[in-house]
Amino acid sequence: MNVCFLGCGNIAQAMIDGLIRSGVSSSSITCIERNEIKVKLLKEKNLKVVELNNLATENFDLVILAVKPKDALTAEKDIFKVAPSSKVITVVAGIELNKYSNPNSIIRSMPNTSTAFGKGITALYAIDHSSKEFNLANDLFQKVGHVFTLKNEEDMHAFTSIIGSGQAYLFEALRIYLIELEKIASDNSDFKQIFKNFVTGLGDAFSNEPDFETLINKIKSPGGTTQAGLESLEKNDLESIFKEAFRAAKNRSIEISNEQ
Ligand SMILES: NC(=O)c1ccc[n+]([C@@H]2O[C@H](COP(=O)([O-])OP(=O)(O)OC[C@H]3O[C@@H](n4cnc5c(N)ncnc54)[C@H](OP(=O)(O)O)[C@@H]3O)[C@@H](O)[C@H]2O)c1
Repeated sequence: MNVCFLGCGNIAQAMIDGLIRSGVSSSSITCIERNEIKVKLLKEKNLKVVELNNLATENFDLVILAVKPKDALTAEKDIFKVAPSSKVITVVAGIELNKYSNPNSIIRSMPNTSTAFGKGITALYAIDHSSKEFNLANDLFQKVGHVFTLKNEEDMHAFTSIIGSGQAYLFEALRIYLIELEKIASDNSDFKQIFKNFVTGLGDAFSNEPDFETLINKIKSPGGTTQAGLESLEKNDLESIFKEAFRAAKNRSIEISNEQ
């Protein structure tokens, strides 16, 4: 499969890393990128960087639109101007298919940065789920993790808030842990490595026992320290804090679409 990324920032590079890690040859990945710093990084990875006009002469199975929402509609029009028969996957948050000039030739996706490690979760939606390109998009994202096919496009907003953006909320929680731990362990030179083990250990524990209640019960004892902390989280309504963050991100996703 020959793919071309238009816009090669955070998410495109995570996908490219994941694809290469999965065994895809870097020669089947092409990049279009305007930011010179990123162009340099791509070339250091031995990736081919071309101009937009190359879309007219090279035959790509899929063009992956991975620019910020503010640039998306212009870039999409440019793609179809240069290569009208292109099949495009957009990873852009918020913007609904009907905002694009050619919605029938576009597949919406919402990956997350764990695609870099083959552990991504990606939602896919298109007007026609039975097209050859939709199957190709499914194959592409399966190389870098799991794929959810959404029946309703509007569910993309909620998916974005939980999986696309939501990863960052857990990182934010862990950042708070790190600050607290640093206060008592800052003289330890292996500190970051130790904390890394704490974080990856959480994943290992979940892989071994994929049930949060059981995992919590293994740590908690009645009247103990864990119970005291958990009761404090409940009293401060941790659940509402997260639900409110999901709601805010979902609303922003809807707003982004309406702003176009
Ligand atoms: N980051 C994530 O975890 C994530 C997850 C899922 C979806 N997304 C979506 O992915 C999109 C990209 O996010 P990102 O974080 O990867 O952004 P980013 O790091 O800013 O990357 C976008 C890149 O595209 C370049 N660009 C913009 N228009 C271009 C054009 N017409 N031709 C060539 N290059 C162009 C930008 O250059 P300049 O620097 O000059 O603007 C920038 O280098 C967003 O719409 C976001 O909603 C992101």
